[in-house]
Amino acid sequence: MEALIDRVFTVAEQQYTAMDTRLTEKTLPRTLSADGEFVPSNIYWWCSGFYPGSLWYIYEYTRKDAVKTLAEKNTLKLDSIQYVTRDHDVGFQLNCSYGNAFRLTGNEAYKQVLYQGAKSLSTRFNPAAGVIRSWDFVRKGCDWKFPVIIDNMMNLELLLSMSKAYADDSLQNIACTHANTTIQHHFRDDYSTYHLVDYDPETGAVRGKQTVQGFSDDSSWSRGQAWGLYGYTMCYRYTHDQKYLDMAEKIYNFIFNNPNLPEDLVPYWDFDAPNIPNEPRDASAAACTASALYELDGYRPGNHYKEIADKIMESLGSPAYRAEVGTNGNFILMHSVGSIPHGQEIDVPLNYADYYFLEALMRKRDLEK
Ligand code: GLY
Repeated sequence: MEALIDRVFTVAEQQYTAMDTRLTEKTLPRTLSADGEFVPSNIYWWCSGFYPGSLWYIYEYTRKDAVKTLAEKNTLKLDSIQYVTRDHDVGFQLNCSYGNAFRLTGNEAYKQVLYQGAKSLSTRFNPAAGVIRSWDFVRKGCDWKFPVIIDNMMNLELLLSMSKAYADDSLQNIACTHANTTIQHHFRDDYSTYHLVDYDPETGAVRGKQTVQGFSDDSSWSRGQAWGLYGYTMCYRYTHDQKYLDMAEKIYNFIFNNPNLPEDLVPYWDFDAPNIPNEPRDASAAACTASALYELDGYRPGNHYKEIADKIMESLGSPAYRAEVGTNGNFILMHSVGSIPHGQEIDVPLNYADYYFLEALMRKRDLEK
């Protein structure tokens, strides 16, 4: 594993340094198109924080000033995200970029941006429903009033970390209320998760449960399961509330006892996709799952979480998923899925697969120290 970590970070440094030359002052890497063209995003795309976040992990591993300079430059592109209140993604965007920047440099200026971002995110909380609203748009054919997706569990890290940094209990109260309401309404009896729950913002009543990016309303979209596992493990880090660890364990049991999980532990894009085994895999779900499992292993050792995560890392680090230097639009991993129902980003590299892969490798390194 040590050799794998070293090999991946050597490749990552080369790929991500070269990738910067594809960008402008206002763009960040997103994916490749179906015909292999590099696709950038603007700063408002939900994934804009992952490239700078990955650069910070590469800097943490290599300690090279040139990488730090790139990480700083690409982090600062996101400065205005701190004021965004129109969707929940500010957590993903700032926590991965500015969050790692602050963690590694201790620079107070980064912390202030994070705090403002947390305050912006908290404006989306509705006390009657006990959740943070995910999206303001309403999908065609739906009548959502207050849609919340499982992905939102990931955004709580920004609230929890800033609550701790500024002794601001209101942020932790919002995050925990959201996590608790999600336990109540987002999970099925087998602890698989729905993608979206719509709430009545006046009464808090659940109006509907459905999918947007999964195969069907009753199916288990793979990345959603990974967001849940990671989200509850992370909530335990800040609160030490056992019920979050219990949730993580139950989600783990659903994923790893699922007969449709392939032998290499990289899931199909949905556990109930109709043409398994002839369905695309989602490396992003596998990477996020592995990163969560390394953290979970630290809290509940002796449950094979680390060994399972190692196996995922070996799969993702193999030529089946990891691209050669100079290929793959300079992304590290191949074979992720954005959204099959939208016909978008199918079997392509995605910057968040790379981010959670690098994060998992750093966690593995630290766990073994
Ligand atoms: N948060 C959007 C996604 O997981 O695709």
